[in-house]
Amino acid sequence: MNTQKITELLARENARFSQSRPRSAELLERATASMPSGVPMAWMRGLTHNMPIYVDGGKGAVFADVDGNQYVDFNQGDMSSTTGYGTPEVTQAIADRMARGGQFVLPGEDSIWVSEELGRRFGLSHWQYTLSASAANTEAIRLARLATGREGVLMFDGSYHGHIGETLVDYSHETPQSYALGLPRDHGRNTKVVPFNNLEAAEAELAKGNSACVMAEPALSNVGLVVAQDGFFQGLREACDRHGALLIIDETHTHMFAFGGLVRHWGLKPHVVVVGKNVAGGVPIGAYGFGEDLAELMNANLFDHAGDEPGFASGGTLYGSHLSMAAARATLEHVLTEEAYAHIGRLGARLGGGIQDIIDRAGLPWRAQHLESRAGWLYGTEVPVSGVDAVRLMNVDLSDSRRIYMANRGIWEAIVTAGPAVSFPMVDADIDLYLEVAEGWIKELL
Ligand SMILES: Cc1ncc(COP(=O)(O)O)c(C=O)c1O
Repeated sequence: MNTQKITELLARENARFSQSRPRSAELLERATASMPSGVPMAWMRGLTHNMPIYVDGGKGAVFADVDGNQYVDFNQGDMSSTTGYGTPEVTQAIADRMARGGQFVLPGEDSIWVSEELGRRFGLSHWQYTLSASAANTEAIRLARLATGREGVLMFDGSYHGHIGETLVDYSHETPQSYALGLPRDHGRNTKVVPFNNLEAAEAELAKGNSACVMAEPALSNVGLVVAQDGFFQGLREACDRHGALLIIDETHTHMFAFGGLVRHWGLKPHVVVVGKNVAGGVPIGAYGFGEDLAELMNANLFDHAGDEPGFASGGTLYGSHLSMAAARATLEHVLTEEAYAHIGRLGARLGGGIQDIIDRAGLPWRAQHLESRAGWLYGTEVPVSGVDAVRLMNVDLSDSRRIYMANRGIWEAIVTAGPAVSFPMVDADIDLYLEVAEGWIKELL
């Protein structure tokens, strides 16, 4: 691929993008006086290399910016809004709930309904709630520490488990180090990282007897896609049982790929499962589920403000709120149905297959990725097995040129490390548009 062509296309499309969004440019200038980088969360600005756009609103699979440009959304806020924008049943449930109060730090019946339903889907009987998947992962690790009396966390290269100390590590060093500024230099001291799909390396680490848990995504979803090889998770569960560690499966993204997540789809057997992002139709929520034994452990270690003994460190005043629960109930009942997952699975197959056809027609040494409702572009023909493999096959300039070219033509696909994902309200015409615009990008490059 001619790198000069990529650079020229990128420059041309970036200029077009900025010039045709004057209202966003105006808001950006105003916003930088009150927010670093002009955004309410600095990470928003680091995610893309183009001018940020300010959003007006969305409906279904489409959102509009303040300049009136519309985008079919293939990123959905990094899958935090995959159920779609303004879903009527969820919007109504949120409004009804808020009219009667959103949180009391007391339980309501919706929390029972949601826990029973998650239990039915993921095969784990007991559930606890937070406001994000990061926080659910944090509590899941604490639960593993309580259960095992150990501190270590074993994870895999290429994983992202959220904004939490233990897993926010740079694994290119033998002892994982800080991955970001503001973290203690030695915060990775309890973390070990081994290559994804390498059961032998995981078992060797577990055999040392320091790990409270193994935390793993069922398929790496933050470095494109890396799928677990046959038998990997079964072997991992057996190794965890042999060496007394808990297997935590982080389904934050992948529960949007299949009904009951890949845990149900592939028959995985975690001790703890974590979900988040879009379980409540866009209202903040994180959840972790586990079996009877861990529930009993939690019961026996209840945090009692008046008690002398310390209890299990969980909770936050807005965790498990009535708002989260009402939104989750409506989302699970009306949006995240088995039929709806079958629909996005079918569209995902069309998307992945269509990308492969485009690549083949262009004769490029690339490969399409596809796992249920998620697809991706690999700039090589090798199938990545570990996170390190996957990162080697990325090309930031190529991805940026694709994303900005497509944004200028009504397709939003924001994050380099992700890939296009099908949302629940999408229809065949959305996939057709994606493929048509993507083929236009390739033709320009060639
Ligand atoms: C697999 C996985 N786990 C956890 C998280 C953290 O989610 P949140 O940022 O909503 O806390 C993410 C976020 O991208 C994720 O991809």
